[in-house]
Amino acid sequence: MSDPLWMRLWRTLQQDGCGGLWLKSLDASGYRRLYLLRRPLVEPIRDCPTTLPVEVDWLTPEGVHDYLGFRPEATGHDVTRQLQQGDRCLLARHEGRIVGAMWGSSARTNTRSLLGHDLPLAAGEAYQFDAYTSPEVRGMGIAPALSVAWLRHLRDEGCTAAIRMTFPWNGAALRSHAKAGYRVAAVVRSLRLGNRRYLFPIRKFAP
Ligand SMILES: CC(C)(COP(=O)(O)OP(=O)(O)OC[C@H]1O[C@@H](n2cnc3c(N)ncnc32)[C@H](O)[C@@H]1OP(=O)(O)O)[C@@H](O)C(=O)NCCC(=O)NCCS
Repeated sequence: MSDPLWMRLWRTLQQDGCGGLWLKSLDASGYRRLYLLRRPLVEPIRDCPTTLPVEVDWLTPEGVHDYLGFRPEATGHDVTRQLQQGDRCLLARHEGRIVGAMWGSSARTNTRSLLGHDLPLAAGEAYQFDAYTSPEVRGMGIAPALSVAWLRHLRDEGCTAAIRMTFPWNGAALRSHAKAGYRVAAVVRSLRLGNRRYLFPIRKFAP
């Protein structure tokens, strides 16, 4: 059974402050505000060292079973389908065990679950999504190291920029992505009405 409402509100207030509680309440009512982060690949991509030794490699179809041990809420069917669609996932392993993962695609934004639509990707842009670090090793620089590995790979493939979406209250994600050079480039707002989500015009910030 889930925790009572007052307990969830209190936890949110402690974790995310008043601003976070307000934005999460708006989100629950259907109005969603997301930051679009952008990382131009012409800028130097500096190392982001981790404080836990990790090895970085790609998720392969053979590794899906292992991945599901790390993300039990995912299903083998969905992960396999994502790989078949061309999405790729970089893994960080500590002593062989997966402790971090980050997905990406050069073909689509995969924002359907967030926005009800896949946003168009500009020429040369790639999309990063679903960064996740095991709770017991957070704060050790694993997600920034995965971002750096991804960004170098994309640059070598000829991409010119990487973009990703983050909720404004997700301070850990904003800090982590900032270490790899991502900056807020736009605010994407949407409203859920019934089963559909409608996008407002995207507010871009000057580069
Ligand atoms: C966001 C996330 C991927 C960052 O991964 P990470 O490997 O911990 O990244 P970092 O080591 O750079 O830590 C980022 C920030 O997390 C916070 N942090 C530090 N220790 C933490 C801990 N034990 N638990 C939670 N957050 C912690 C700090 O604010 C840290 O920033 P700082 O180093 O400037 O103080 C991770 O917190 C996570 O998996 N969160 C849940 C899923 C999620 O929100 N994904 C992001 C989608 S955009």
